[in-house]
Order: sequence, then structure tokens, then C-alpha cells
Amino acid sequence: MTSTLDIKIEKTPKSRVTEYDINNVPFGKCFSDHMFVAEYSNGAWNKAYIAPYQDVPMSYAMSALHYGQAIFEGMKAYKNDKGEVSMFRPVENLKRMNKSAIRMAMPEVPQDLFMKGLNELLKLDSAWVPSSDTGSLYIRPFLIATDEAIGVKISDTYKFVIITCPAGKYYSEPIKVLVETNYFRAVHGGVGFVKAAGNYGRSLYPTKLAQQKGYQQVIWTDSETKLYFEESGTMNVMFFIGDTLLTPGLSDTILDGITRDSVLTLARDWGMKVEERKVSIKEVLEAQQNGTLKEVFGCGTAATIAQIIGIGHNGKDYMLPPVEERKFSTKVDETLRAIRKGRAEDRHHWMLKVG
Ligand code: PLP
Ligand code: COI
Repeated sequence: MTSTLDIKIEKTPKSRVTEYDINNVPFGKCFSDHMFVAEYSNGAWNKAYIAPYQDVPMSYAMSALHYGQAIFEGMKAYKNDKGEVSMFRPVENLKRMNKSAIRMAMPEVPQDLFMKGLNELLKLDSAWVPSSDTGSLYIRPFLIATDEAIGVKISDTYKFVIITCPAGKYYSEPIKVLVETNYFRAVHGGVGFVKAAGNYGRSLYPTKLAQQKGYQQVIWTDSETKLYFEESGTMNVMFFIGDTLLTPGLSDTILDGITRDSVLTLARDWGMKVEERKVSIKEVLEAQQNGTLKEVFGCGTAATIAQIIGIGHNGKDYMLPPVEERKFSTKVDETLRAIRKGRAEDRHHWMLKVG
């Protein structure tokens, strides 16, 4: 699908970038100078523009607010040692966004509109891309239903917006996770395989309960048997047991993470044994007991690789090997960083230069 829309650009009269230490800002709270907006009505995308980042008037009756016809993506851009900006696998985010759009009965975003909008936005706001080793520009494309209507129906109008913010580490420390068997992130036939806004709203209460017990995140299990791991918080989850990297196989309850795919690709490049299949709580806890569980980590765009150092289950804490001993995830983390910073060969063509 293509679109021939021209993007009108209104530049900010004065950049705010010097007001922040962009190499040291909290995640998701400081937004760069511009935003990209495309508007959909009468069955077509018919307006696209970049404007200074700002609040906008919206109706309280807007359907996204009431019934959650809203989807989003999360991706990142990096600055290499020469100061050039590149995005990590942006087309994969577009593909997933459109998978989400179909499931939520929303219009797909044409590839050239998405890519042109991104490119122009990042060209304008390149000064906001951190140059530090662990820094990046977090990019948040989202699509919302904007009909002013309280009836439960598919909206006729939408806005597709991209905003960005400089980002450092999402988790400053390794995390402890609680196995959650009372509340579920996703169910078969539901929307767990897409990035629908409601998936995140429903996760907040169980996460709060886990945090009150001293864990940073939950590790979701399947709603049918409660015997298998699914994801951890907003990340896919991986286990290194014996000589095998294990991760739950994709299904309609698991988000098809781009970081997940990148980690699996690197592991296969390195000749490792990789299994994508159901991973049971029992086998992981047994491996912890018999000493074959070497690494557990979450992976996602915001967090990259988040080391999991403890798993709580049925009132007991299972402590995991120290991060310093985790050769695989450390190598993956370093390799991904090197590719993103232009210091290692990008053999899978993951980086797309802005310009
Ligand atoms: N799982 C969930 C529920 C997520 O929200 C995310 C974040 O996007 C991921 C997994 C990881 O996906 P990705 O690596 O594409 O960011
Ligand atoms: C991401 O990793 O991009 C996410 O979507 C996680 C979270 C910030 C919602």
C-alpha cells in the first residue's frame, strides 16, 4: 500500500534540546522538538504534516479513549561515532503496526507514509539522538480512533502520530520477577499478539501487586494451564539451559518481538542450539535446582536486554546465576550495541540510515 501525500513541515522557532541532558534523561518523559501527524477520513489518508511537539485539542468523546481502539509501536534510532543517525529495523515495526491495525479494525498505515514521516522527523530532530553508548532515541508511532462518538463502533477517522524521546536504560538494575498465575496478559483469540493499548492497561494492576511484594515485574503464564511462561512485563523472555537457548514459541498470546527475533538470529549465527517452543515453569525451576539454568533475561526495544536475577513462584524465590557469569546475553547485548553504533558488521541489514 502506498500514499502520495506530501508532508508539510512547520519547524519549531526555537529548539528545546539544550534544556535537557539528553544522555541522562528518565525514560519517556522528555519529548523532542517535533511530531509527525497523518490524518485519515473518508476512507483515505489525506493529510500529513510535521509540527512542533505540542498539546492538541481533542474531544472527550473520542472513541480511542472509551473503547481502546488504539495501537502503538516502539522502536529506536541510534547515533554512530560519525554522528550519523540510523533506525533499527523500522520496517518490522511498520509490519507489526499494520498487523495490529487489522486486528483492531483500523486502517493500515502505508509504508511510504510511515517511512517518509519517520525519516523527515528524525532529520529535523537528529540533535535529540543521544550519542552515549547506552543512549538512543525512542520512537513512538501510534494510531488512534478519533471519531467524536460514544457508540461502540469502528471509527471513521484516525490519527497516526509519531513522537520521540531520548532514552537511556529502561531498567537500571537486574530485575526480580514474580510468576503470575491469577491474572493474564493475553488469551487465545484475544489481542496479545498485537500492540493494542488495552494490553498495557490490563497489566498495571497485577504489576502493582507484584511490586508491592518486592518484584519489579511479573512473568506472565498461559491462561489455559498456567504451566507455561509467556512473556515478562513488556518483554519477551529467554532462558539459557544447559547448551540451549529457549524461548516461548510465537502464538496469538505472544508479541512477535523484534528484539526477540534479533537475539534468536544472532544465536543461530553463532551456531547455538535454539528452541522456540512452550517453556514450562517446572522445567525452568528444575533447571535452577540442578544447576543447569545459566541465564534468564527479558528482551524488548525499551529494555534491550533486561537481566532477570530472581524468579518468585508460590511463595518461594529462586535466585539465578550472577550477571557477570552470563556469557550469552552479555555478548548479545554488546553485539546489538555494536551493530547499532556502527562498530560491527550489520550483516542482516538491520540499520536504516536517516537522510
Ligand atoms: N512483548 C510485549 C508485550 C511488548 O510490549 C514488547 C515491546 O514492544 C515486546 C514483547 C518486545 O518487542 P520488541 O522487541 O519488538 O520491542
Ligand atoms: C517497548 O519495548 O518498546 C515497549 O513497548 C515497552 C513499553 C515502553 C510499553
